[in-house]
Amino acid sequence: MCPGSFDPITFGHLDIIERASSLFDEVVVAVLVNKTKKSLFTVGERISMIREVTTKYPNVVVDSWSGLLVDYCKKNSIPIIVKGLRAVTDFDYELQMSQINLQLQGVETLFMSTAPAHSFLSSSLVKEVASYGGDVSSYVPSVLLERLQQRLDLQQNS
Ligand code: PNS
Repeated sequence: MCPGSFDPITFGHLDIIERASSLFDEVVVAVLVNKTKKSLFTVGERISMIREVTTKYPNVVVDSWSGLLVDYCKKNSIPIIVKGLRAVTDFDYELQMSQINLQLQGVETLFMSTAPAHSFLSSSLVKEVASYGGDVSSYVPSVLLERLQQRLDLQQNS
């Protein structure tokens, strides 16, 4: 299980998905719905974007879920959550989540260190840079760049 908000998916996410897909028979990439977070793209749009950029990994499936992550894992007999750790700043919260997920449903979390090239990357920063006209082509797959810019323009003009 590779969970996240993916609003939008970045090369940082893709790096983790690609590496997880080479380690496991099947990888579920799940868009988690966070009711408290305002998103730029709908869940359906995020799923489509992830599917488009993961077609080369035949063992990757994409889905969404609006409850507890571990309930999805239990329901679908998924024993392992794979998360990328960018820096020590990620560690405290990720550790807490992994501990509670283990206690709630016995689901393990494996942490992968992100590739150094992506250690500063987050969807929030990508949106901020792009909203000011900055070049994010090194951070987001090229097929998604136009959609990102269009959505940010729409948001700024509303
Ligand atoms: O991409 P993000 O926003 O950093 O991903 C965080 C996410 C969605 C993986 C995390 O918030 C999560 O697992 N949410 C689902 C709800 C849940 O299970 N919460 C309890 C985790 S302790």
